[in-house]
Amino acid sequence: MTNTLVVYYSFTGNSKKVANYVKEKLNADILELEPKIPFSTDYDEVVAEWQNNDMKKDVEIKSIDKDLSQYKKVVLITCTWWYGISPVMKKFLKEYDLSGKDVLVASSNAGWIGHCFRDYKTLLPNANIKGELDLVFSAEDGKRDQIITLQEEIDRWIEKL
Ligand SMILES: Cc1cc2nc3c(=O)[nH]c(=O)nc-3n(C[C@H](O)[C@H](O)[C@H](O)COP(=O)(O)O)c2cc1C
Repeated sequence: MTNTLVVYYSFTGNSKKVANYVKEKLNADILELEPKIPFSTDYDEVVAEWQNNDMKKDVEIKSIDKDLSQYKKVVLITCTWWYGISPVMKKFLKEYDLSGKDVLVASSNAGWIGHCFRDYKTLLPNANIKGELDLVFSAEDGKRDQIITLQEEIDRWIEKL
């Protein structure tokens, strides 16, 4: 039984790919977060709708099927929405207590990670954040799924756990 859990939210699939890579590397369990009510499938509509993505703004999420007390180490990966961590990840961190756990945090973005690491720190006051990863993908239309961050950088981040 593993003591490591990868928790992620991915709107367009980038964070999901990295989450699965980390899961394989660490031989970890994996948990995908999902909003209770799906976001629109129209990308631009979601971008426009979430222009206000402050700390207070989150969404209801589906209940999780993992017992968090089983895990000593947690890897958190989300997409960046308007310079902050996604509302789905925010809600997870508000609802579930990761106190005392060793944690790695990452936020997928297109070059503007904003205050994501600060968001994580605010919502993880009693966890041990061992490493932060600025996970950059292309900002170009039609190429948003192309990763820019080097695999070695991801591997170095994973080793911090
Ligand atoms: C609502 C919304 C807001 C976004 N805001 C930002 C941002 O502030 N900075 C940035 O670099 N990318 C921003 N992006 C782009 C995504 O963060 C980026 O494409 C990321 O790789 C997507 O990860 P995912 O495929 O796991 O959802 C935004 C995307 C969406 C849909």
